[in-house]
Amino acid sequence: MLELTGHKTNFQNTLLNWYASAQRSLPWRSKPSVYKTVVSEFMLQQTQVKTVLPYFERWLKRFPDFDTLASASSEDVLKYWEGLGYYSRARNLHKLAKAYTDLNPKPTTAAELQMLPGVGPYTAAAISSIAHNYPAAVVDGNVVRILARLKNNSRIFKSNGEAVNAFRSLADELLNTEHPGEHNQAMMELGATICVKNKPLCTICPVVQFCRGAANGDAENIPNIQRAATVKIEVTRLWVIRDGRLLLHRIPENAKQLAGQYELPEIKKLSKLPNLGKVLAIKSRGITNKRIKETIYRPQTSVLNTESKELHWIEINQLENITLSGPHRRWVNELLAKETSR
Ligand code: ADE
Repeated sequence: MLELTGHKTNFQNTLLNWYASAQRSLPWRSKPSVYKTVVSEFMLQQTQVKTVLPYFERWLKRFPDFDTLASASSEDVLKYWEGLGYYSRARNLHKLAKAYTDLNPKPTTAAELQMLPGVGPYTAAAISSIAHNYPAAVVDGNVVRILARLKNNSRIFKSNGEAVNAFRSLADELLNTEHPGEHNQAMMELGATICVKNKPLCTICPVVQFCRGAANGDAENIPNIQRAATVKIEVTRLWVIRDGRLLLHRIPENAKQLAGQYELPEIKKLSKLPNLGKVLAIKSRGITNKRIKETIYRPQTSVLNTESKELHWIEINQLENITLSGPHRRWVNELLAKETSR
């Protein structure tokens, strides 16, 4: 353990004092409830606070509690998640609400919560500690960064998962068992605002006196986690409007990802390749280690074989009522604006 051993209580108190005055005011922190904690933790998986904020507010207005969410339709649930990504979270949260309303007594420990759909070790520790004061430490990339720097640990990790496992026992050891929820949120806050990946703000860090990485002047290069090699992917899509309707592909219900959502069709969804015609737009984006380049064409031909169960002509004035996957809502809005200014 850190030379921190003797200073553990000192570290915990310093961290909590800092958190008490420096924490951002976030909607799930004011008048906290189990439901708000569960929803915020699901939304915050893989997603930054600033992205989550408008979704959280809208979600709570539409689905204010477990019962309302449990009795909502899948379409409605997906619609309110549209644009947040990683949609299995929405489906799992919906399933969780249905299960939770029937459970008696309610699960409160990390192990009990981890039995619920979509709840892994991190989310179980976060919910049990924040909502039930249960002593479980959260460990994710943010927490690993803090702990590795505190210990000046320059070990090379093959993946995030390997690093998380390596630091779990230190996280448990450092947990403030009297205030586990506050401690965990303070660690999250420190990782998000001070002990950031690039250019950590060591000069204003509340716990710099405990940090061997900072003392060594090398905090920025710790931890050393190898990234998977970047994979380049090219996708070709179509933009076709006929009689006020847009051609879209609906991802099958049994798909592993984005089930039931609509997107601009890839050319491979057409049984016959059209004359691609003009490039309308080129969009690049990154997801984890993938660099995806999407080229959107407006095919010239008026003969387009769109016979497929998965292809649908959607009235433009009905687009608001369907769920478009990933960045497709943005692209569709942008291309429609271009269309009307043509
Ligand atoms: N990331 C995951 N959970 C969080 C929380 N409760 N507050 C801020 N960031 C988080």
